[in-house]
Amino acid sequence: MGGVVISGTGSFLPEQVITNSDLEMMVDTSDEWITARTGIKERRICPRGMASSDMGAEASRRACADAGISPSEVDFIICATVTPDNFFPSTACIIQSKLGIKNIPVFDISAACSGFIYGLEIGKNLLSSGVYKTGLVVASECMSRVTDYTDRAICVLLGDGSGAAVIKPSEEEGIMGSYLSADGSYGDLLNLPAGGSLNPASFDTVEKRMHFMKMEGAALFKVAIRAMSESVNKVIERFNLKKNDIAIVIPHQANLRIINGVAKDLGMPADKFYVNIEKYGNMSAACIPIALDEASKKGLIKKGDLIVTVAFGGGLTWGANLIRWTK
Ligand code: ACO
Repeated sequence: MGGVVISGTGSFLPEQVITNSDLEMMVDTSDEWITARTGIKERRICPRGMASSDMGAEASRRACADAGISPSEVDFIICATVTPDNFFPSTACIIQSKLGIKNIPVFDISAACSGFIYGLEIGKNLLSSGVYKTGLVVASECMSRVTDYTDRAICVLLGDGSGAAVIKPSEEEGIMGSYLSADGSYGDLLNLPAGGSLNPASFDTVEKRMHFMKMEGAALFKVAIRAMSESVNKVIERFNLKKNDIAIVIPHQANLRIINGVAKDLGMPADKFYVNIEKYGNMSAACIPIALDEASKKGLIKKGDLIVTVAFGGGLTWGANLIRWTK
């Protein structure tokens, strides 16, 4: 058994754009504040009736086409999402059905913005078992459905989208390794208070706006920089690499100031960090596969390049993948 490589990537973004000027008409904010404090200029929003599975199925089809395979060749699906279509069936099951695939294992994982990083590591290990030949890791998020558009501290940050990767066993080593971590004691910094078994939907939970995401932005900001820097360091050290060996970092796109803070903390040039936050905002787990797909299609990643993906998210969870690009 050799390694596991990414053989195709794909992404899907809904067409509707919400600009900072649009948000100025909804809450007490300004394009200047949002741009200066976050780096975001616009974000995409799903139309009514479109769900995470619809975006995920399309991103998956595009990843399969990029890998030169038919979806029917996929042997398992891992879907990272905190905005599933429903509690159950899993969004992975719905994507499976939309792709017309039967009789394979599929499941969701809940690791918020770190979901794709967790998913790649789980997928790599499933393929390493030798039982499966082709895996699909998809991250899909309709963050607009859990966003309170009366809360200016949150609504300016979030957007919708999906990204996917096809992974395969190979002679080459692609996904070299990962560093994954979490600390549940930080759970209150970022959560969706109602709709689960603790606070099921009721008139009261709706009235108190508890079905929308809550966030302690300033506290998260500090933990995010520390956790992301730690993740990059850990994954690089494990392979005795130097920061100079890394061609490109694909970071979670929560805030441009967080990305620049991580670059500074690590002593790496900020231009090694791929940034598309100005166009899409924070799409939770979908940020990294969308950025990876974009960077690859733009020709910014060459065969043989070492890539680090890195994220933090609700849980709190955090982690990084070290990937050698083999396409
Ligand atoms: N427009 C104008 N003013 C605003 C806005 C807004 N949209 N939002 C907050 N403010 C105000 C605040 O009310 C505050 O005013 P005050 O000083 O009068 O009280 C002032 O701006 C400063 O607020 P801070 O919260 O200190 O602003 P900060 O510089 O920390 O930026 C931000 C806030 C952007 C939320 C930042 O803390 C951040 O990015 N944190 C991390 C967020 C994050 O990554 N969350 C996870 C993403 S969600 C997910 O993962 C699914």
